[in-house]
This record gives sequence, C-alpha cells and structure tokens, in this order.
Amino acid sequence: MQNQLNIFEGPDAIKTFLDPGKNPYLPLVELPSTLNPYSGDNVRIFAKLMNMLPLGNVKAAPAFNMIEEKFLSGELEGVNRIVENSSGNTVSSVALVARHFGINNIQSYVPAEISWHKLLMLLFFGIEPIVNVEPENPVEGDPQSGVSKARADAMKDGVINPGQYHNDANPRAHERWTAEQIWQQTSGNIDIFCAGLGTTGTIIGNSRSLKSKKPSLRVVGAMRAPDNYVPGVRTEKLLKMVGFDWRKHVDHIERVETAKSYRLSLEMSRAGIIVGPSSGLAFAGVLQYLEGLKAENRFDEIRNGKTGNITCVFPCPDGPLPYLDEYFKYVDPTHFPAIQNEELLLNKP
Ligand SMILES: Cc1ncc(COP(=O)(O)O)c(C=O)c1O
Repeated sequence: MQNQLNIFEGPDAIKTFLDPGKNPYLPLVELPSTLNPYSGDNVRIFAKLMNMLPLGNVKAAPAFNMIEEKFLSGELEGVNRIVENSSGNTVSSVALVARHFGINNIQSYVPAEISWHKLLMLLFFGIEPIVNVEPENPVEGDPQSGVSKARADAMKDGVINPGQYHNDANPRAHERWTAEQIWQQTSGNIDIFCAGLGTTGTIIGNSRSLKSKKPSLRVVGAMRAPDNYVPGVRTEKLLKMVGFDWRKHVDHIERVETAKSYRLSLEMSRAGIIVGPSSGLAFAGVLQYLEGLKAENRFDEIRNGKTGNITCVFPCPDGPLPYLDEYFKYVDPTHFPAIQNEELLLNKP
C-alpha cells in the first residue's frame, strides 16, 4: 500500500501531502443493512470516501492532475495567474496545489447566485472571485458563460485556465487514482458504479478504467431532477455546457430530487459516514437503479457468478458542513430534534 505510515516530511512535505498518489487509499465503506434495503438480496453497497482527500473534497484529485500535467508539459513556464470557472471546490483545490508550483494569483468566475458562505470560502483561501451572470440556457462555448470567459482570459500571456469542463486531465485523475483504488479494493468484484454528474470527470474516468477491465460493469450517471438543486451536480439542461462526451461512458441515467439527496446524506452522516448532499444524490442513484432492476426481476442478470453478490460502489464527493444551513431548508423538520428551552438562546438567526 502506498505511504502506509501516512507521514509527509521534508521541504516538499505539503506538496507531497496534496498528491493523491502519495496518500493511503481512500476508505471504501460498506453500508449497513439499516441503509441498504437490498442487503437481503445479496446486494452490497459501498461508499468511496473522496471527501477524505487532503483538501476535503473530490476536486483535490483533478486539481492536482491538471496542474501537474501542465507543469510536466512545460505549460506553467512564465505563468503567474490561473483563472477557472468554479464556485468552490475546484478552484480552492487548484489554488492550494498551484502555490506549490509557484503560482499565487488565482481568480475564479462565480455565478451571480453564489451563496455568501461560498464566496467567503474563496476569500478565505485567497482566491479573487469574478462575479458573472450566467446565460439562462447555457450551451457549450457560450461566450457569456464563466467557462468561456475563463478560457478567453487564458489567451493572455502569463495566464492559464485549467479548464475542468474540457481538460481530459480531469477524468484522467480518476483513472489514475479513484478507479485504480476501487478495482484493487473490490478485487475486481464490482458490478455497478454510480456517480453524480458535475463536470462528469468522475464518471468518465472511472467508467473508462473500470470498463476496460470489466466490460460487464453497469455505469449509472446520477443527475439532478429538473429544477432541483444539489451543489456540485447538474441537471440535464445544465450538463449541456460540459465539453466532455460523457453520455458514451454511461449505461443508465437516474434523476434525483433535492430533498432525497439531502435526507440520504443526513442518514449516512448519522450512521458515521459524514458526507454531503451530492453523496446523497449518488447513493439515491444506486437505490433508484436497484429498485428498477428488482421490479423487473433482473438481479440475476448482474449477479456475480463467483461471489453470488451484486457489488455497487458510489463516490462521496465532499462533506455536509459547507451546506449545513441548507439541510434545515430541504429536509423535513421531523428529522431534527426540538431545542429545549429555546427561548433562553442569546444568538438566534
Ligand atoms: C460537491 C461535488 N459533488 C459532485 C461533483 C461532481 O463531480 P464531477 O465534476 O467529477 O462530475 C462535484 C464537482 O464539482 C462536486 O464539487
């Protein structure tokens, strides 16, 4: 196992710590039967905890890979500014990695509706936000989109745009680390992989790698149901601005609602797998897909001949804390205990 003792030292200790390939494997945790309604059908469901990457979210992997590939190809020479389109996870990860490659000036296009909390997070990490009004019906290459504006800025000398929506180093990061780990951790016994669709880097990288080793693998893409909100993941309409040809890597699509995503991530968190709304969405994608298979009596079609099980894996992109207030908006209040003596509180929102 890589870096079993989990020690980082010497002058490049932090840079090494930010490298997903120099860290121990991320946990793959099986859900208990209380969270898995199909455990009696010999279906096993595993959460892959991408939120345990050094930067606390899935984007640490593509951020490191995008910057490292540009460094190795010589593209970072003379660069003093990075511009990305991202409202949080990606640009924060890019900023922390880029500083170790000598680039300190980081800017990010953010949508006008960005939450104040997320904006504060960018300022916390020393990132300069550029507020942009996104087109209502974005398509790939729309000049008014933050994605295109960041790309256009990178035409100037000394500026680069990592380009998470079209740079293949994003899915390649998942081939290099995520899929490789899942393959080894499951000993190749994986039958269903389901991930949320944001930039689609996670699903493309894992699908490419895992299907090349096991063509019978079912890849399920989980997207937001129309007009439903889940941070980091897109609706079908919003996926139109993604530059990757993600559809050819996905066998099946599940549409998931906001309330279900938040509730399932709350349930996982209370059980000890502390993950955020888009993890709930990916988990919901697994459950909805299994529900459809069971209704059509198709479990045996997928069941692994050797183990007799159906093994499902879904990645958990980040934790719940950046969205804590949103849980009280989207989850039914009956899920929360009452506050005793609430009238005595001195600080109430
Ligand atoms: C919280 C969160 N969930 C899910 C995703 C989706 O992952 P991907 O961009 O690889 O499709 C992202 C990506 O930004 C994210 O930040």
